[in-house]
Amino acid sequence: MRSSVCLRFLAEPSDVNFGGKAHGGTVMKWIDQAGYACAVGWSHCYCVTVYVGGIRFFHPVHIGDLVEVKARIIDTGTSSMHMAVDVYARDPKQGEARKTTHCVLVFVALDEEGSPTAVPTWEPSTETEKEEQAYARKLVELRQSIEETMKPFLNR
Ligand SMILES: CC(C)(COP(=O)(O)OP(=O)(O)OC[C@H]1O[C@@H](n2cnc3c(N)ncnc32)[C@H](O)[C@@H]1OP(=O)(O)O)[C@@H](O)C(=O)NCCC(=O)NCCS
Repeated sequence: MRSSVCLRFLAEPSDVNFGGKAHGGTVMKWIDQAGYACAVGWSHCYCVTVYVGGIRFFHPVHIGDLVEVKARIIDTGTSSMHMAVDVYARDPKQGEARKTTHCVLVFVALDEEGSPTAVPTWEPSTETEKEEQAYARKLVELRQSIEETMKPFLNR
């Protein structure tokens, strides 16, 4: 079972936004695709995104940049897989890769009937992985409070 995935490709002219950089929605699509590949590789099931949170765009991605989208599992529940995704970009002719975006996603594995199904448990082994698991769990707590705040506004 693989707990991480890296997608690598060039940002294409068709990804451009009105300011000449890669569109934020396109970056979000890349993040979702890397998360999906990681979730499916871990669970061996069809998976859906149930939550996207904490997305932060630090720097733009330029058209023609070499892009790396790295997704890794940072916690698992019964049917859920929590993952951190980082996007890096660099000019392929030169230069250092810069981290452009960070995001945390939750995917849920589904069975053939479309119901949530159990996934293998991910256990952290390094100090960094233990810190990331604590980070994922802290975000679950924070999300509960955010969802309480949002509840009255969801069906307006
Ligand atoms: C994913 C889906 C089947 C889950 O259904 P559900 O009735 O919420 O199922 P459950 O309550 O049993 O929750 C299943 C898991 O989702 C997690 N979950 C539910 N709501 C969540 C939220 N807001 N944030 C994070 N995780 C959440 C639960 O914690 C649970 O995880 P666990 O099994 O590890 O404890 C349903 O929400 C769905 O179909 N959503 C749409 C998915 C979609 O279309 N995504 C976009 C395109 S891929």
